[in-house]
Amino acid sequence: MITADSRAAATALLEGALVIIPTETVYGLAGRADDPDAIARIYAVKGRPSSHPVIVHVADPDLDASRPGAWVSDVPDYARALAQACWPGPLTLVLPRSDRASDAVTGGQDTVAIRVPAHPNALAVLRAMDELDPAGAPHGVAAPSANVFGHVSPTALDHARADLADRLAPGDLALDGGPCEVGVESTIVDCTGAQPRILRPGRIGAADIERVTGMAVLDASSSGIRVPGAMPSHYSPAASIALAPDPAALEAYVDAAIVGGTQADAIGIIAMEGVPTPEGATRLLAPASADDYARGLYDALRRADATGIAFIVAVAPVSDAAGVSEAITDRLRRASAPR
Ligand code: TXA
Ligand code: MG
Repeated sequence: MITADSRAAATALLEGALVIIPTETVYGLAGRADDPDAIARIYAVKGRPSSHPVIVHVADPDLDASRPGAWVSDVPDYARALAQACWPGPLTLVLPRSDRASDAVTGGQDTVAIRVPAHPNALAVLRAMDELDPAGAPHGVAAPSANVFGHVSPTALDHARADLADRLAPGDLALDGGPCEVGVESTIVDCTGAQPRILRPGRIGAADIERVTGMAVLDASSSGIRVPGAMPSHYSPAASIALAPDPAALEAYVDAAIVGGTQADAIGIIAMEGVPTPEGATRLLAPASADDYARGLYDALRRADATGIAFIVAVAPVSDAAGVSEAITDRLRRASAPR
């Protein structure tokens, strides 16, 4: 059931229901983070393996580990600096957990992922939870992306409802917030080591993190931390997808698909505005900027599946917007990985 009332959504969450909420990155399927039954339902509704940890979303960017109800237990200075500079915003910090962050949320790990989303409707819901039940503040909601496990993340309420409406129960709600402004999931930074490590690229890039922390940033490759969202074949549409290395290679990829037996009009193209569509192929997205590319990507992948596109050829953006370009390339690589 769709609502525009953030207090109704907050009440539902406090009572243990699930709510589809908009965030600036993608829509989330939210449940009270300190209610193991609500978390169990999130996993069941998504069809997600229960060992995969979820992100806790809070309204208050204060990471003081000593405050009552804190979700984290130990916060290095560089993590505090990142929270101050980037929250509310598309950044998730992985920190040592407190007792409040249960195994249901952390997947049994001794860390918890936490972020303050920037979407006004998400913030309104989280703030309303703290107002309605001040004793439980700071309230947190666990919110994985509101898609069936393995599907493309939803960047519009319709995407989330297409995946999940049939799986929700009476009393669960969906809060509209329009199309997502960022369009790819938050940057996840592991803050348990001496220096920050990016576990999942997002709009906030390595250069941003280096600027804020004054430290060199590591990448996911040498991490022992499990990031199930980083499985190679995640973020997959039903159509096969190939990532062409540059615009000049696009024609050759399309020709190869046609030689391989795919009809020309069942081939979808995702590339920046200036890149021409090869003859006969179907253009799915022609963004003017890397930010527009990120905003439109998941909708284009869903439209491809809805319109009978069998094979997608994508060319990643070349741009100065490093974070978002890295995130797009990362998601396209995963979507094109063998399944
Ligand atoms: O932008 C986003 O982050 C969206 C919106 C709704 O906030 N959420 C999202 O959640 O993408 P989800 O569950 O689809 O992806 C969360 C990722 C998963 O890859 C998970 O493994 C990782 O975060 N994660 C969660 N807790 C973790 C932890 N303690 N350590 C390492 N990775 C963790
Ligand atoms: Mg997800």
